[in-house]
Amino acid sequence: MKAAREPIGVIGTGYVGLVTAAGFADLGSDVYCVDIDEAKIDTLVRGEVPIYEPGLAEAIARNRDRLHFSTSVAEAIAGARLLFVSVGTPPTYAGDADLSAVLAVVDAMPASAEHALVMKSTVPCGTGRSIVRMLAREGKGALSYVSCPEFLKEGTALEDFKCPDRVVVGDDEDGWAADAVSELYAPLGAPLLRTDVASAEMIKLASNAFLATKISFINEIANVCEETGANVLEVAKGVGLDQRIGPKFLSAGIGYGGSCFTKDVSALKLLAANSGYHFQLLGSVIEVNELQKRRVVSKLTRRLESLAGKRIGLLGLAFKPNTDDMRGASSLVLAARLTAEGATVRAFDPIATEEARKIMPELDCMGSVEDVIAGADAIVLVTEWPQFLALDWEAVAASMSGKVVIDGRNALDAAAVRAAGLEYEGIGIG
Ligand code: UGA
Repeated sequence: MKAAREPIGVIGTGYVGLVTAAGFADLGSDVYCVDIDEAKIDTLVRGEVPIYEPGLAEAIARNRDRLHFSTSVAEAIAGARLLFVSVGTPPTYAGDADLSAVLAVVDAMPASAEHALVMKSTVPCGTGRSIVRMLAREGKGALSYVSCPEFLKEGTALEDFKCPDRVVVGDDEDGWAADAVSELYAPLGAPLLRTDVASAEMIKLASNAFLATKISFINEIANVCEETGANVLEVAKGVGLDQRIGPKFLSAGIGYGGSCFTKDVSALKLLAANSGYHFQLLGSVIEVNELQKRRVVSKLTRRLESLAGKRIGLLGLAFKPNTDDMRGASSLVLAARLTAEGATVRAFDPIATEEARKIMPELDCMGSVEDVIAGADAIVLVTEWPQFLALDWEAVAASMSGKVVIDGRNALDAAAVRAAGLEYEGIGIG
């Protein structure tokens, strides 16, 4: 039976790949998903989902008939003409984007005028055009190339797929492939920006860099609020009411984490440097974020005098709620610094413990938040999971040895914490 919608291939079954696959399957496309990781494909074939993302397991389950998982690119090529590339582009030791996985996919592409490579992976500006040149050199010049950057956020990825602020489709050919990609997204009713490949690539990098800048900016304002007696929550509210600024991404905290901001800000800074431009602002954005991750250590030291021998509980490990992703998580820096200061660190995360153990096998991950709180001299809210916001502070106070509660996300009910006889300190609340 003919599929109701254009079938697609998705190469790389990480967060972006799986969400794209599930999202397009929901819209009615057959999706041929490919990954080189046999164990991951086996897991998906069994109907299990290797990552935690709200709604993803359900979306994959309800589209079992439309989703095809394989380690063979040939199957995707046989089943679909649009081949979405969503493989990782992690930072190299030098901080640039490592394009080896992308180039391996390019290598596997056919010399076919019937197919298009649709780049979803975040790549440095200029990558698309060099891939097109490379394809031409290899006699595969007939293959179409489209840049279609992804803007989804972990934790709300499926919603972001369904209701994007915009869809960006870049091509340099004005060919069939960009039309077909635009058509695929049309049912979402989102604003569509058709542009050239280099601009599409830069839109992605500039968006992430701007969001990271917004966070580092409000974190610096928070730090000044602490010195001057202002309250960053009030300041962010007032600043965010200016429509030119907007209220989003003005939450001060213990720094941004995740793989994307860390990687993309650094990649954009280096991309600029490699082309002879010193992107000063981004250097500061990165530095402010690194220092912000460490500020909790000085807050604790000030309140506990010395951290040596103190028991510190971390509430949350993931870089934000609703994900098990530990890449770039502020908890990694915090736990390492506290341990280096001689503290005993115990942590609990509802979802990310397994991932955290892979990165920090020495960290004492507990089975419940109560275990972390019991006997702690101080606790730190690292990730604003709802269950931490709903804690019974009287019970917390009775269970802790000390009184210090550091709210690294300004998400707790400060009045309730204080009413329980605990010492509350947020970020930027002077
Ligand atoms: C980010 C972008 O928001 C997405 O648009 C983009 O597609 C994605 O990177 C990517 O390039 O793949 P993500 O990393 O999933 O998404 O998460 P965000 O919700 O943006 O949060 C990133 C970090 O910033 C988290 O640690 C969060 O706690 C922190 N944050 C966010 C703040 O500290 N303050 C804020 O006001 C907002």
